[in-house]
Amino acid sequence: MNAHFFATCAPGLEPVLHEEVKRLRLGKHERQVGGVAFQGRMEDAWRANLELRTAVRVLMRIARFPAKDADALHRGASDVDWSRFLSADGSLVVHGHAKDSVIDHSLFVAQRVKDAVCDQFRAREGKRPDVDKHDPDLRLVAHLSRNRCTLLVDTSGSSLHKRGWRKFQGRAPLAETLAAAMVLRSGWDGRAPLIDPFCGSGTILVEAAHIAGDVAPGLARASFAFERLPGFRADRWQRMREDAKKRARFPSKLTLFGSDRSEDALEGARENLASAGVADRVELRRQDALAFPAKPNWNAWIVTNPPYGERVGEVDRLWPLYRELGDRLRAECAGYHLALLSGNEKLAKALRLDDLERLAWKNGAIDCELLVGELAGEPAAPEPPSR
Ligand SMILES: C[S@@+](CC[C@H](N)C(=O)[O-])C[C@H]1O[C@@H](n2cnc3c(N)ncnc32)[C@H](O)[C@@H]1O
Repeated sequence: MNAHFFATCAPGLEPVLHEEVKRLRLGKHERQVGGVAFQGRMEDAWRANLELRTAVRVLMRIARFPAKDADALHRGASDVDWSRFLSADGSLVVHGHAKDSVIDHSLFVAQRVKDAVCDQFRAREGKRPDVDKHDPDLRLVAHLSRNRCTLLVDTSGSSLHKRGWRKFQGRAPLAETLAAAMVLRSGWDGRAPLIDPFCGSGTILVEAAHIAGDVAPGLARASFAFERLPGFRADRWQRMREDAKKRARFPSKLTLFGSDRSEDALEGARENLASAGVADRVELRRQDALAFPAKPNWNAWIVTNPPYGERVGEVDRLWPLYRELGDRLRAECAGYHLALLSGNEKLAKALRLDDLERLAWKNGAIDCELLVGELAGEPAAPEPPSR
């Protein structure tokens, strides 16, 4: 029988994730707020974990029931046969969420569901699983909304942005899932030159190289939560990974170019590219973003996230960089494609790239805009009266 899964993603990324889910041919998919639902067998969830570049987690729905009060919550959770997911010697953690419900305390939701699981084991076997917040055998999500509780098993474990290749963090690394979403949403074909002039730790370049080479994003990850669920077949999983490895192939001519003005960042990017197996696919150079050599009529993609300036005073300091960058992009990069993630509205406006599409995304807690589209090369609109 098919199970119901939900792949979660960062706000705004749902359409990109939905395209990925369709490309993987996962069954009965539907875009929803916060992610994409699909149906399939457990092995489809393995594949989703291995292959989806923009998903944060893949959850499996195991129960849904009305829960107006604490007793109803306990009763509903007790109706699940927990031996399907865990043994009395194992460990679990429950993450609770509550909104628009009589019970409005997330911790209480988690506690009640955990009690129901443990009470069932104790009644049946005289012993109960432990709670382990860090490395549990079973990760449960209990979602209470409008007095209905949904119980989900987390098949991923730690967030899927943790691909396993990152050695160097840098000051403000982009989440791998977000970097992949930028590349995918930019419409890059995996063949044309791709440039990141503010490359930092190289996240966008690694994700782009993996997209071009059809390298599954989960191949280097140490483990997934589904490996600890009862019934897991290590031999089949190994075969799925081997098939994905065999599939990877880089195009013979691939121009990926990254630059940054910080030597430390470039050193870190080199480490990351090497660990991701793509060091020889990417050219790195120490260079100011305003000095990158643009070629006329180049069918190139610029995918980048410049510094945002979160601290006081930084936005004013960065404003001239954005203004000049916008001028250069208009004057010298007409016909190029741009996907630029900006975490500051004032700075995004300074670019004066008004023809581009603007998508509301989030980078962690920061509200961002992705400016995306083909650069027109037209003169900027007249200066607003004040900046
Ligand atoms: C937000 S970070 C980019 C993070 C990167 N996407 C990553 O995942 O690590 C911005 C980067 O721009 C670089 N930078 C700032 N001003 C620059 C300039 N004028 N030219 C080139 N690089 C610059 C910083 O050194 C920093 O590495």
